[in-house]
Amino acid sequence: MSQPGNILVTSALPYANGDIHIGHLVEYLQTDFWVRFQKMIGRDCIYICADDTHGTPIMIRAQKEGIQPEELIAASHKRHLDDFNEFQIKFDHFSSTNSEENRELCEEIFLKMEENNHISSKKISQSYCADCKMFLPDRFVKGQCPKCKAEDQYGDSCDSCGATYSPTDMKNASCTICNAPPVLKESEHVFFQLDHFRSFLKEWVHEHTPSEVANKLDEWLAEELRDWDISRDAPYFGFSIPGHEGKFFYVWVDAPIGYISSSKEWCKKNNRNFEDYWKNDNSEIYHFIGKDIVYFHTLFWPAMLKNAGYKTPNQVFVHGFLTVNGEKMSKSKGTFINARTYLNHLDPMFLRYYYGCKLNSSLADVDLNFDDFISRVNSDLIGKITNLASRGASMLGKNFSGEIKGLDEDGLEILDFAVKQGDIIKKHYLARDFNKAVIGIRDIAEKANRYFDEKQPWKLLKTNPDETQKILGVIINTFRKMAIYLKPILPEYVAQVEKLFNESDYQWQDAQSNLTDHNINRYEHLAKRVDEKQVNALMEETKAEAMANTEEQKDQENHEPLEAEINIDDLFKADLRVAKIIEAEEIKEASKLLRLTVDLGFEKRNIIAGIKQAYKAEDLVGRLTVIVANLKPRKMKFGTSEGMVLAAGPGGKELFILSPDSGAKPGQRIQ
Ligand code: 2FM
Ligand code: ZN
Repeated sequence: MSQPGNILVTSALPYANGDIHIGHLVEYLQTDFWVRFQKMIGRDCIYICADDTHGTPIMIRAQKEGIQPEELIAASHKRHLDDFNEFQIKFDHFSSTNSEENRELCEEIFLKMEENNHISSKKISQSYCADCKMFLPDRFVKGQCPKCKAEDQYGDSCDSCGATYSPTDMKNASCTICNAPPVLKESEHVFFQLDHFRSFLKEWVHEHTPSEVANKLDEWLAEELRDWDISRDAPYFGFSIPGHEGKFFYVWVDAPIGYISSSKEWCKKNNRNFEDYWKNDNSEIYHFIGKDIVYFHTLFWPAMLKNAGYKTPNQVFVHGFLTVNGEKMSKSKGTFINARTYLNHLDPMFLRYYYGCKLNSSLADVDLNFDDFISRVNSDLIGKITNLASRGASMLGKNFSGEIKGLDEDGLEILDFAVKQGDIIKKHYLARDFNKAVIGIRDIAEKANRYFDEKQPWKLLKTNPDETQKILGVIINTFRKMAIYLKPILPEYVAQVEKLFNESDYQWQDAQSNLTDHNINRYEHLAKRVDEKQVNALMEETKAEAMANTEEQKDQENHEPLEAEINIDDLFKADLRVAKIIEAEEIKEASKLLRLTVDLGFEKRNIIAGIKQAYKAEDLVGRLTVIVANLKPRKMKFGTSEGMVLAAGPGGKELFILSPDSGAKPGQRIQ
């Protein structure tokens, strides 16, 4: 019989331009549960991930922040790792797609595509912003939906009517970066001829993806598959395509290859052979992904791997989206919750437990309902499970110096039940039906609580201490088994349980045995109840974050566009001088104008300035300001203006004249 192979498990790589939120955690947590479970049953299993770092959005975001994309992705990497660590998500390796290993693998896999004649090139026309000097991905174009005419829709689909289209079909299209209308521009692109793999994929999807997914894919696979455009033009933050000058790999080419490169790095560090994973029939590769990125993982990706001589995944596990209180996550409702914001208010183990109660192997969406969250944590995790330990272990500690000695006969049935449940729970874990695994554990807790209440050991304490000790032995042993079964979901909680029992590193089979003639440690608090106030505070902070972001965005959107670039000579054409306002009077007939006399030290000037709504004439007298001193005199209705006072702001009341620091002298040139 062949040995079970090594297992390599991945979650989708998070984009480096955003923070981890509780929607992402649906995936990272279920993967973490599954990997931890595999390790507990003794499988050689690694959990691999990385940041997805390339593409236009990351490049533009870095530009906006005035930093290099490398800086941006390094900062995200740190933030992502901090969030994952605090949520007890334990990757064996978490890398970045912007690595040398990944570049080499991308080149290798691409050259294999060329070598096997699966690459074609053709010219295509796409939206291009002449001001930004770049091709615009669909999401960087906004305009009117060609179907329902809703304004301000993205270039790929309409939020209002759900139609999908191309940005070139839109009216009033504009570039989201600079607002200029895009033009159509031709350029040569590189294509992967996916249809060459159609018959392979037709079979493959039925064995390696959930049946709902495979059935849907059948519809696609019934017709010729379109060539996949795998190139992007400069400027683009990514890897160059060898032999195709000025072309870069589309981010969706190098992202999944990140699964291989990240595991390659892990292998190097751990003295393992990476071909044992990616080129070995006996290994097992599993991807956890959301239903939005199915095509990439079930069509393009297996075709790329197959062509390059790599192993294709054993299974692509697909999950649904997170809804909160029954609705799509929403920033304004305070339900688009970042991992970090959650951590500011609530214990990460509660979300782990709650997701454990909800997650299953189906593609259905998962709802986080906060009332249910509070009740599952308080009444089940604390009330049913943890209370067994706190009551049992405290009594045992106080009255019997923490010694487990013998087991009550009537309780053996419960212990037996708990062992048998272990097999059922194991099956649920294997099948990724974590919700059923938790129910299995809760069933044990309910039985044990009933037993505790029936036996009432606190009443027996005086009259029959031996029997009391045995009852507590049953209680505490039952709790220990439950803790072992909960370990993939609550690793840190169970690490405390291990300490309580003077044990370490529970493995699945440890639940088979009972502890007798064994001393446990003093009971220390394992978990505290959730308070509704904490949940409310979390939602409030999330809403406040959303408001702050909208304000910031508004400020960015409302800024006046910058003028075209000038060189230094152009700048010095304007002769800017310090001037002292020596007289100021209102021009009665004009709503906006003041008449100023300014002193330049060597001469005086009359200036008519449109600052009446912002300043009272008398307040200006004696102030220093800055004027354009070589502006051609302009004849106006109320006299000639011999210069211009410099002021900032949109106008009207909101106008601020420039004032040099004290010490500046009239006539001095601004340089
Ligand atoms: O959809 C996403 O968030 C992508 N960053 C997932 C990439 S998964 C893999 F292919 F790299
Ligand atoms: Zn633009």
